[in-house]
Amino acid sequence: KWGLDTEWLGNTIIHKEQTTSTQHIAHQAAQNGAAHGTIIVADEQTQGKGRLQRPWHSAKNLGIWLSIIIRPSILPYLAPQLTLMTATVLADVLHNKGIEPKIKWPNDILINQSKVAGILTEMQAEQDQIQYIVIGIGMNVNHKQHDLPEDVNRKATSLTIETNKSWDINKLIQDILKQFEDTYADYIDNGFIDIKKNWENYGFRIGKPIYISTLKEKWAGKFLGIAEDGALLTTDKNGDTCKIYSADIDWLV
Ligand code: BTN
Repeated sequence: KWGLDTEWLGNTIIHKEQTTSTQHIAHQAAQNGAAHGTIIVADEQTQGKGRLQRPWHSAKNLGIWLSIIIRPSILPYLAPQLTLMTATVLADVLHNKGIEPKIKWPNDILINQSKVAGILTEMQAEQDQIQYIVIGIGMNVNHKQHDLPEDVNRKATSLTIETNKSWDINKLIQDILKQFEDTYADYIDNGFIDIKKNWENYGFRIGKPIYISTLKEKWAGKFLGIAEDGALLTTDKNGDTCKIYSADIDWLV
């Protein structure tokens, strides 16, 4: 069914018609020794998880609900680079289909300023060693407007809403996994440099003012780009350059 043209990614595919969250299944599988490159894919999730403990709406057969298990030999503090890498993978796939996506830091994929896809990375590490990383990819594909949850603050969209046609989910998964494998090889061989450049090409509001909300405070800064380690580079309240590792970004419309 899947028809992948990858070498290692997706050699094992765990497919569920319905599950709580492919992230749950991935953690279980990884703890039971699942190989680097194992994929978990679901037609429907009943407890899809987003970043920052948010729920992720994952209706049956309308989108891509997928988790990738990888076991890279990099230091744990570099794991955010892989999340940013995955964002460029999704952006490249959409770009190759004639869509103009943007990436909102750290890893929301936007089309016309609405969110079409998100990434949730979870890591299991001991001291300075990564046991495994689970990269969860959620993409709204064939949703019509009424299939999406009403959400005033966070505008969600789908490929169908943005392009007025329906998309082959299996084909998209093939393209994403192939692009992931190629980009990952570049990352392992050459490091983050190409990925950082590519991310910044897609970066939403680089050079412009953004609102940064951390757990402690909220301020307006200028979005300068991303750092080597994947942090957001912005200005603090005094106008000095600072690095942000976890925050919500907003902008004026
Ligand atoms: C976000 O933008 O908040 C991240 C959303 C990630 C959703 C995907 S869908 C597949 C995987 N399983 C989950 O429960 N979450 C991720």
